[in-house]
Amino acid sequence: MDLYEYQARDLFEKHGVPVLGGIVADTPDAAAEAAEKLATPLVVVKAQVKTGGRGKAGGVKLARSPQEARAAAAEILGMDIKGHTVKRVLVAEGADIAAEYYFSIVLDRAERRLLAMCSREGGVEIEQLASEHPEALAHITVDPSIGLDEAKAQEIVSAAGFSDEDGERVARVLPELWRVYRDEDATLVEVNPLVLTGDGRVLALDGKVSLDDNARFRQDHHAELADDSAVDPLELRARELGLNYVKLDGTVGVIGNGAGLVMSTLDVVSYAGQKPANFLDIGGGASAQVMANGLEVILSDPQVRSVFVNIFGGITACDQVANGILGALAELGESAHSPLVVRLDGNGVEEGRRILSEAGHPLVHVVETMDDAAVLAARLAAGNEA
Ligand SMILES: Nc1ncnc2c1ncn2[C@@H]1O[C@H](COP(=O)(O)OP(=O)(O)OP(=O)(O)O)[C@@H](O)[C@H]1O
Ligand SMILES: [Mg+2]
Repeated sequence: MDLYEYQARDLFEKHGVPVLGGIVADTPDAAAEAAEKLATPLVVVKAQVKTGGRGKAGGVKLARSPQEARAAAAEILGMDIKGHTVKRVLVAEGADIAAEYYFSIVLDRAERRLLAMCSREGGVEIEQLASEHPEALAHITVDPSIGLDEAKAQEIVSAAGFSDEDGERVARVLPELWRVYRDEDATLVEVNPLVLTGDGRVLALDGKVSLDDNARFRQDHHAELADDSAVDPLELRARELGLNYVKLDGTVGVIGNGAGLVMSTLDVVSYAGQKPANFLDIGGGASAQVMANGLEVILSDPQVRSVFVNIFGGITACDQVANGILGALAELGESAHSPLVVRLDGNGVEEGRRILSEAGHPLVHVVETMDDAAVLAARLAAGNEA
């Protein structure tokens, strides 16, 4: 999960990283009020969107009075930055900037390591710096079992070519940023710019933080950082139900057990000429209730015209799955409207098919092979009744 700048700012503050005061506003008046409250000669009004290049797009403006802050917010709110609509601004205290640096800690998956990067040339686009002046961006590996301690911080600022005095000031902040990375289970902590002020302080002026969603179970407070307004409502519902669901843009709903099987199901639906409406893996030991939850989510998708249920019986045998499907349909009642093409194989297949054919539910079509099932599901979705 990527965070907004103001959320990153809050996490920085929590872990002792020096930041400036900031207040989030969603109207021009609230921005004026925020500027008044901050009561600094200069404030910065900054678009809160989860994409880079805000400054270049006109989404970062200086203001010297509450009136100017109101005007800046009026311009920025509603702005479109690379497809993201600005709904909120951060009104931040203005800094007296003497120099802008760059610092980040990132999980480097390709090299299987934690990587710290640092440069005396911050503020600019870091991709450009990395490609045009790679020597200006120090790359230092961080051993997670040791962490970014004082010695490592010293190594990083030396590699970045700081003078002794500035290097020492910057090095003091790096272990605090490491604590954000480690204690919040982040996969990215980036500060651009990390600034040196006229009076010799080092401050994090802009932060980007990505949190590892797999650590949610031990980071209770991360749930409230999620911005549900940006999440697809079906995906939100699926998440509440604990389902492994991804919304896609086709018309054939897909349910299967096992991620690999579901992936191949998406493929055969495409080969059959229709696009899948979703990915949904209900897992190996899925109960009737999980099947019902899955069908509920898929059938509430207005784009779905048919559903392909592709199950390979394993721990949960096909007869249990068949009963699960019938139970789910009974539970959903009238709200189930799309035809279901069911392909069962593996453990308990004969019994499973028998249960479904004996039930004779008008929406259920049992098909023996995966390819034939895909063809039928595609045809039903296209409106050509078999
Ligand atoms: N609080 C502040 N006081 C003074 N100047 C600031 C402040 N915040 C930002 N700036 C100036 O604005 C520039 C851009 O700000 P910032 O880094 O937050 O946005 P950005 O880099 O354009 O956005 P992104 O990081 O999303 O690409 C900074 O490099 C800095 O010069
Ligand atoms: Mg920036």
